[in-house]
Amino acid sequence: MNRSFLFLLGSARQGGNTETLARAAAEQLPAGAEQRWLDLTRLPLADFTDARHSGGAWPEPGEPEAGNEALLRDATLAATDIVLVTPLYWYSVSSSTKAYLDHWTKWLYVPGLDFRARMAGRTLWGVTAMGDRAEALAQPLELMLGNTAAYMKMRYGGVLLGNGSGPGQVLDDTRALARAKTFFARQAPLARSTGE
Ligand SMILES: Cc1cc2nc3c(=O)[nH]c(=O)nc-3n(C[C@H](O)[C@H](O)[C@H](O)COP(=O)(O)O)c2cc1C
Repeated sequence: MNRSFLFLLGSARQGGNTETLARAAAEQLPAGAEQRWLDLTRLPLADFTDARHSGGAWPEPGEPEAGNEALLRDATLAATDIVLVTPLYWYSVSSSTKAYLDHWTKWLYVPGLDFRARMAGRTLWGVTAMGDRAEALAQPLELMLGNTAAYMKMRYGGVLLGNGSGPGQVLDDTRALARAKTFFARQAPLARSTGE
């Protein structure tokens, strides 16, 4: 199966360090690998409401899905590789990235969609810029993505980290740019939950 990478931009600003780093890594993808780039901040999702245990059908049959949600759901299911391109915000993912992941829970409950079964075996990756130089501070984000991948029985490619605060600063992080060259070449193992 041809690889098809879905890059989901989650920074709250345009042209930031995270996107720069992700594009450096994506440049190394083989020509045959498809790339699709979507900006989550330009495709806002409705506030997530948890109606899993409300007794009624959820989502309601025939509920008109917001266009952005349908677009993101279909793009997710069409990709072999999901790349969350999110800055480190408060040691975790950005709010648009989190809102997207919360909607995975909804999609798990859509009758007939088989979201979990269809996502199994695909690969989750992260690309993250952060202001602090201490990369260990990104561990909450790395664990969160790894456990998410494990819950979904996905592969996990890990997180490509880069340092930067002002736009463009990540280009000074030569270690991150070197890691970007081979990031997507790694064999992503099946994710393992830290709860195992
Ligand atoms: C709301 C917010 C929260 C942040 N939290 C952290 C943090 O917890 N740790 C950190 O190292 N940097 C933090 N930063 C700095 C960003 O990670 C840094 O500026 C990064 O380059 C932003 O990515 P971008 O250029 O792609 O927008 C935060 C920035 C913002 C705006």
